[in-house]
Amino acid sequence: MINKVKTKDIKLGMYVLLPKKWFAHPFLKNEFIIDSPGQIAKLLEAGIAEVSIDTERSIFPREETKVKVVSEAIKASQSITPARPIIPPDLQEAIHDKKMPPAQKAQAIKHHSVVMIQRLMENPSRESITEAKKGISEVVDVVLAEDSTNQQLLALTTHDYNTYVHSVNVGLLAISLAKSIFKGSDIHDMHELGAGFFLHDIGKVKVDINIILKPAVLTDEEMLEIRKHPQYGYDILKQTNQSSEECRKVVLQHHERDNGRGYPHGLKGDEIHLYGRICSLADVFDALSAKRPYKQSLRPFEALNVMKEEMLEHFHKELFQKFVLLFH
Ligand SMILES: [Fe+2]
Repeated sequence: MINKVKTKDIKLGMYVLLPKKWFAHPFLKNEFIIDSPGQIAKLLEAGIAEVSIDTERSIFPREETKVKVVSEAIKASQSITPARPIIPPDLQEAIHDKKMPPAQKAQAIKHHSVVMIQRLMENPSRESITEAKKGISEVVDVVLAEDSTNQQLLALTTHDYNTYVHSVNVGLLAISLAKSIFKGSDIHDMHELGAGFFLHDIGKVKVDINIILKPAVLTDEEMLEIRKHPQYGYDILKQTNQSSEECRKVVLQHHERDNGRGYPHGLKGDEIHLYGRICSLADVFDALSAKRPYKQSLRPFEALNVMKEEMLEHFHKELFQKFVLLFH
């Protein structure tokens, strides 16, 4: 029998079934017996609140073991946090592996980039930002230099939504668009630009987590709070002094819209920096593509169609056309 169990209630000996999608969890296998507190720690750390358990394949321990296992798991999760590098070694390994097939490389880069952004957003210190920017620069270099891996990265679709996955999706989409627009030009600092795209939502770390995770449409008051995140993000990057003004502009302007209906400043048309406009296209596309508790996910074609039919006045038209061409 298959039961749903809260991760904090997992016991040693339970046979867990994880989603088959590679990006949904940090394990190599999708199903296995829990035989160490470290595995529960890893699930908690990945933000997985609930798992499926196959009771017939589980070997249940005594009830009192549960308390010990959970407390050890929490301890393990806390004890590994300070020592963790912001850039997962697996990310660098995948980036520098010249023989890895593009599809596999794209999956590895995406998965480990999400881990990197999660680690950064859990502790957005000056040091963490410096480190993450190095990792982002390496990912940007792959996108710029390896067309086949770039194509595979664009072909990966993830319907599960959280801020970390979204940040990486937007980072990859926006840098791919910037690559197609700025081809042959060396006046743009693609590393700073990439940092702005990947870190566009970093300001969400200052917004109440209950608003971020609310599984429903937000109230007006909550909406007002969440609309502060571009300014929060700009301030974080400014205070830590780890970014250029262009990078910070991306963060500040990614919710501005061509028709002036965006936020935080309601800028119109050319008042919005080109970099901010690139990021807004990627941001809206990924938001439409994602599945949320209150809405279905859209396929790339459907998301582009909604943007064209219902939202075209939000965007720079030629930029939107170039964005569409990324998916051809
Ligand atoms: Fe945002």
